[in-house]
Amino acid sequence: MSVTLVIGAQWGDEGKGKIVDILSENFDIVARYQGGANAGHTVVFNGNKFILHLIPSGILQPKTTCIIGNGVVVDPFALIDEVELLRSFNIEVDGRLFISDKAHLILPYHKLLDKASEECSEKSIGTTGRGIGPAYVDKFSRCGIRLGDIFETDELRAKIEQSFTQKIEMISKLYKRDFDIDIQKSISEFMQSLRTIQHYVDDTTFLLNESISNGKKILAEGAQGTLLDVDHGTYPFVTSSNPTAGGACTGLGIPPTSIDTIIGVCKAYSTRVGNGPFPTELNDDTGKKIRENGYEFGSTTGRPRRCGWIDLVALKYSVMINGIQSLAITKIDVLNDFDEIKACVEYEINTERTNKFISKASTLEKVIPVYKTFKGWQKALNGTTKFEDLPLETIKYLRFIEEYVECPIKIVSTSPERNDTIFLD
Ligand code: GDP
Ligand code: IMO
Ligand code: MG
Repeated sequence: MSVTLVIGAQWGDEGKGKIVDILSENFDIVARYQGGANAGHTVVFNGNKFILHLIPSGILQPKTTCIIGNGVVVDPFALIDEVELLRSFNIEVDGRLFISDKAHLILPYHKLLDKASEECSEKSIGTTGRGIGPAYVDKFSRCGIRLGDIFETDELRAKIEQSFTQKIEMISKLYKRDFDIDIQKSISEFMQSLRTIQHYVDDTTFLLNESISNGKKILAEGAQGTLLDVDHGTYPFVTSSNPTAGGACTGLGIPPTSIDTIIGVCKAYSTRVGNGPFPTELNDDTGKKIRENGYEFGSTTGRPRRCGWIDLVALKYSVMINGIQSLAITKIDVLNDFDEIKACVEYEINTERTNKFISKASTLEKVIPVYKTFKGWQKALNGTTKFEDLPLETIKYLRFIEEYVECPIKIVSTSPERNDTIFLD
């Protein structure tokens, strides 16, 4: 029993990168289990800001081994860019990064398909355009290409050529889009990118399970968030993988019994990037103020994030389906200068009230949030190292969250920096 999961408890961008970075100091291995370069995990330390899309945030701690598990969809170009970015900061990746031979590849045509389907859809999802959905479609249609296939060069090129032609034809017929693309050139560049990354490919299933048997400490880093889960989120406005706890087992090839700790990361308010229902969204000056205070712009696409009050109905659901044992509340400082702060405690739908989350998008769109109001603390928080030293109003707000969702808060983050983090007990 030596695996800890860190899971996004909202719609992504909860600050998982910061929390994983801090915790990784005490772990031997940090592993990503789902998603791809749609993720953007930000870590800030010593005045430097790193945004990681594919490589686990643990790479910034010098002794940590990092794994990209079989559940991740890997874009080799994004990976190469990230390796180069880290090298420019003298952070070496070789010998510390291992990618599952069972992980699927994102090919250039997946990104074209992602773009075309979004452009043609009447109700677009607002994807990151990173080819995530189409890559998982191929995985589950059993026509994807896995990292382990890249060593069979001749067969691989023929397979890619065939798929490329089929996909371009599909885009043209189904979506009525013609991309001006030199297929042979694109394939050659792709093959070249595979040669650059092939030394990272390994059997990470055995690597992880042997590490568990040898008593190593493993941290599984979730990407996206519970409410973007393809099964449990606000379908169809979701991503195409399972960020929830179960995804860690299938996405790494580890048994559920190996997991002993599950931490949920949650902002002190809510954000969502992309389309879909968002009951507590504030399309007013308060929402604007949260965006400005929290610098709420997407780490991957730069899009402004939609902002609103914390949704405790949704958070309680996240705690339930993930089995979250403790919470890390981030960005509490963003609320520092508000007179009052609100938390959604019930949904009103057709004059009835419920405290059960509704994942059906068309129903969730119609709910009216019922709020409890808290007095603001009007004080800066960074530099505070003890929970008891936080202003009384902050403590009251945090204690209410704990009681409502029946889950203890064990970490409170008060700025993007590593040091501005309060650990309880
Ligand atoms: P992730 O995808 O869950 O890793 O989150 P992102 O990195 O996309 O977004 C979180 C943003 O909030 C990043 O810019 C972080 O540097 C920043 N952040 C994390 N924790 C805090 C905090 O406690 N306070 C403030 N002000 N910013 C934070
Ligand atoms: P991290 O790991 C926030 C959102 C997209 C879109 C939907 C589907 O940084 O928390 P996709 O490209 O996955 O097909 O897009 O999911 N989305 C995220 N939102 N944080 C993320 O990752 C996200 N990854 C995908 O905006 O609404
Ligand atoms: Mg992010």
